[in-house]
Amino acid sequence: MQSNKKILVLPGDGIGKEVMSEVLNIINWMEKTKTVSFDVSERLVGGAAYDKEGNSISDETMQEAINSDAVLFGAVGGSKWDNVERSKRPEAALLRLRKELDLFANLRPAVVFDALANSSSLKLEVVKGLDILILRELTSGVYFGKPRGIKKINDNEEKAIDTQSYTTSEIVRIGNVAFDLANKRSKKVFSVEKSNVMESGLFWRNVISDLHKKKYKEIELQHMLADNCAMQLVRDPKQFDVILTDNLFGDLLSDIAAMLTGSLGMLPSASLGEIDQNGNRSAMYEPVHGSAPDIEGRNIANPLAMIMSFAMMLKYSFDMKEDSELIEKAIQNVLNKGMRTADIKNNNENAVSTKQMGQAVIAELNILSGK
Ligand code: IPM
Ligand code: MG
Repeated sequence: MQSNKKILVLPGDGIGKEVMSEVLNIINWMEKTKTVSFDVSERLVGGAAYDKEGNSISDETMQEAINSDAVLFGAVGGSKWDNVERSKRPEAALLRLRKELDLFANLRPAVVFDALANSSSLKLEVVKGLDILILRELTSGVYFGKPRGIKKINDNEEKAIDTQSYTTSEIVRIGNVAFDLANKRSKKVFSVEKSNVMESGLFWRNVISDLHKKKYKEIELQHMLADNCAMQLVRDPKQFDVILTDNLFGDLLSDIAAMLTGSLGMLPSASLGEIDQNGNRSAMYEPVHGSAPDIEGRNIANPLAMIMSFAMMLKYSFDMKEDSELIEKAIQNVLNKGMRTADIKNNNENAVSTKQMGQAVIAELNILSGK
């Protein structure tokens, strides 16, 4: 039987390959123990693709991503490709996927598991029970604004330009997602920009205010400046629920939020496109951590953000909420039992390897599902 769940797997570079291999084991487990089948294909992306195919993402891989129901993405990059021209660099593949699949809504949930509350660099009481969602606009802003580039002014001077730009409709569509998500949570949105300095920031604030007045009066909306938000995230993160922000501020604030949870290795993400007439939408799932070349190949990376990204795929792309929650529960139990990879362990604890953590999650899935 042809599966209606077509997944393109792009492990990428560095630890991307290692953490992805633990997800592939979980996919196998699901196919063996449940009446579900996935149609999985795997391709190169990032530096790995550049080395073999001459570009960080080939047109064929891009086409395959378009034809898939969902893309599962590991991580890209490494100093090996520092001198490659920008359009072919590993990160360019990620940006091309985001842009061409029109994945404008990037959900980055930062959840502190009870068992890990003391792995955070912040005090236990500040982070215990934290559950916030950063919603980052992902296909516009300074990442894609034109003009950009370096131009010559005279013989001694050059000038580098990046452009921050947002249109009304770009802000409205991400705003709608924020208010809809907040409606299912604690009905509170913080919209974050730099309206005190930037034209695009003031514009963002006004567009979100108008949208709120028109459609979402029952949701509480608060505006906050991005620098203050960064400070508030480490001072009192539990005041937040949904944080709505642009592409660049979302990049920064989500790294801060990740550290609240104890480690960058604990943060999954979903990047979603618009829902079409048939109820389908493009989607890509990736851990927020990068390729971490410094620990590549050592079997010590934390696979949990990658596994949780897969759980998000089950929920958002395949309507498999129960299975998604089963995986989350398994992760919680494994952490409660004291399993820790190096990034989340305390000084006196022993670390398990990437593979051991992956296997422990599968063992727990067996227990939870009575296998
Ligand atoms: C992220 C990453 C990317 C970004 C890089 C790798 C291009 O930091 O997804 O947060 O800046 O968006
Ligand atoms: Mg980032």
